[in-house]
Amino acid sequence: MGTSAGNTAGGRSEANRVLIFDTTLRDGEQSPGISLNRQEKLEIAHQLSRLGVDIIEAGFPITSPGDFESVQAISREVEGPIICGLARTSAQDIEAAWTAVRDSERPRIHTFIATSDLHIEHKLQTTREDVKGQVRAAVAQARELCEDVEFSPEDGSRSDVEFMAEVVQIALDEGATTINVPDTVGYALPGEYKAMFEALYRLLPDLRNVVVSVHCHDDLGIAVANSLAGVEAGCRQVECAINGIGERAGNASLEEIAMLLHTREPSLGLWTGIETTEIARTSRLVSRLTGYQVQPNKAIVGRNAFAHEAGIHQDGVLKERTTYEIMDATTVGLNSNSLVLGKHSGRHALSEALKEMGFEIDGQALNTAFKRFKEIADRKKQVTAMDLEALVTDELRSEDIGGYTLDSFEVEASSQRPPHARVSVNLPEGGAASGSFTGDGPIDAVFQAINAATGVAAKLSEFTIGAVTEGQDALGEVSIVLEIDGSTGAGQGVSTDIIDAAARAYVRALSVAVARSRADEAVGLPTESETSTAID
Ligand code: KIV
Ligand code: ZN
Repeated sequence: MGTSAGNTAGGRSEANRVLIFDTTLRDGEQSPGISLNRQEKLEIAHQLSRLGVDIIEAGFPITSPGDFESVQAISREVEGPIICGLARTSAQDIEAAWTAVRDSERPRIHTFIATSDLHIEHKLQTTREDVKGQVRAAVAQARELCEDVEFSPEDGSRSDVEFMAEVVQIALDEGATTINVPDTVGYALPGEYKAMFEALYRLLPDLRNVVVSVHCHDDLGIAVANSLAGVEAGCRQVECAINGIGERAGNASLEEIAMLLHTREPSLGLWTGIETTEIARTSRLVSRLTGYQVQPNKAIVGRNAFAHEAGIHQDGVLKERTTYEIMDATTVGLNSNSLVLGKHSGRHALSEALKEMGFEIDGQALNTAFKRFKEIADRKKQVTAMDLEALVTDELRSEDIGGYTLDSFEVEASSQRPPHARVSVNLPEGGAASGSFTGDGPIDAVFQAINAATGVAAKLSEFTIGAVTEGQDALGEVSIVLEIDGSTGAGQGVSTDIIDAAARAYVRALSVAVARSRADEAVGLPTESETSTAID
């Protein structure tokens, strides 16, 4: 085994290219508390396109009008990757998925049904024969509509492999072009998962004519190892999500798969089309918009992934970087902290800088971003690419959530008496409402005052605070998850003042949770706390 990092130049064959199927917006979005709106999903999808993923699973269109519209908007606007919509085997699901993706340059329908006896008997309450019939009808219908059809036998890794092979053969006969075999509950061991694919290849010679895919959950912390085992068995598509988000313990993390294949390309001989320098930015965007923080020691994108604490390590790295580093931080884009604009930069300079970063904003959105930029530039000596990224994401969020917005706040804090806050909140129906509260701390007082102004009894469930960049004048970034009668909402806020950042985040989270609980009530759905999603 060699010790060098990086890629071999040239010599790559298409047969060894591993397609990256990103499911951040579908499986990832099913994580508890995540609720992305259309604009946020579009923003993530554009960034995934910059990252170079091959397929974006944009959502599960039948599940809600919001999901349908987001998939449709992504299909219409995002160029480059294949845009895929998920569907169960019912005719309505497949029709909805097709209608949502049909305007994409490269649409895909992904249909699935469970093949394990456990799921067939208890969840579907049907028979193996019925499952076969459903697959035949679903894949045939999907193929009539779309040339690119993926089929997944759900809970594949716990299915009787011979029965699963019969089902997959039906999907192949009906024209499926990708076969994805998930480890739905994250139970498989790498050796078992690999052996399952080897058995499928033996039982189904036709499998060699289509793309075979892995989809692994991280319940035992081995989703990436299992994905690699599948790839070693011959699979050439990996389904994964940014920051590893997804149901329960999440999906295999895209950045880990991409950097694993990149760093060990000399040994594995496999490669992807991922633009690795976009990894850090994509991770930050997803973390910001979902409210899911990245753990500091997370591989590839954690704050400490390239930090060296022990003196002996620091000394080694200073003498020769590769003594303790197998990757270079710049390869994953952890170098975007350069100064891009100053206090005297104008609207045009801001617009150009944002364009260079891939944000095409104009009109009112640019005016608002410029106003926020000026406020920040007045207080902060250097405005970096990361600051701009945080600011624009912050502004995108406020424009698109709708609902309440923060008008103003005042806090009286002192060591002599409990802090008192007064806030004014702009109401969705127009006008503003004010509220005040004496709380345990200044931030608590502001949150309770916002509850008083809106008349909503929101309960804070998560609060995280961080800095966008380093240094005393860094922008503060607050992420909040709150709950209103069982419906959760996440919100983020960015500002040079942490109370301002916290108040913005709280108002946004509250707007998301209110909208969510109203939507659930309107369609008579139980709230999140009364149910759990059945699809991983
Ligand atoms: O985990 C799973 O089985 C899934 C399928 C829908 C592919 O997410
Ligand atoms: Zn899944």
